[in-house]
Amino acid sequence: MTGMVDVTFEVNGERRTIRVEPRTSLADALRDECRLTGTHVGCDEGVCGACTILLDGAPIRACLLFAVQADGSAICTVEGLSDGETLHPLQQALLDHNAVGCGYCTPGLLMLAVGALTREPDMDEAALTRLLGANLCRCTGYQTVLRALKAGQIAMRADGS
Ligand code: FES
Ligand code: FES
Repeated sequence: MTGMVDVTFEVNGERRTIRVEPRTSLADALRDECRLTGTHVGCDEGVCGACTILLDGAPIRACLLFAVQADGSAICTVEGLSDGETLHPLQQALLDHNAVGCGYCTPGLLMLAVGALTREPDMDEAALTRLLGANLCRCTGYQTVLRALKAGQIAMRADGS
């Protein structure tokens, strides 16, 4: 097909080159070309946060970026969080606190929180609450997620992640 472009990035530690239409969003490219379907698409217009990933360490909404804009970047998706069988401390905390409902928002919430807490490990409860408000969750009421994030924050500090 004409008009396709090659995009090369590192995703979850692996260098990938994909061929996409210039208008392909990064979220669609990750799901359809890289088969990383943990990145969910809800609104597809930057509102819900379900598509949040880390781009060069910063949480971004992958539906708002064209894949071509990520050329040369390092991406982390929810599939890249665990270390083999060992879950990331925030993943483990969500599990331990039963802080998942349908799970549709969960990858985006995780990536948002991992990005924020990696950069700012000492975020207080008010800041964590504001952070959570950036992503929509229709199931949990956020309280269990907040408790889990606070526990995961302590675990992240303890293991230096
Ligand atoms: S799908 Fe990207 S913000 Fe909703
Ligand atoms: S767990 Fe269902 S939308 Fe958050």
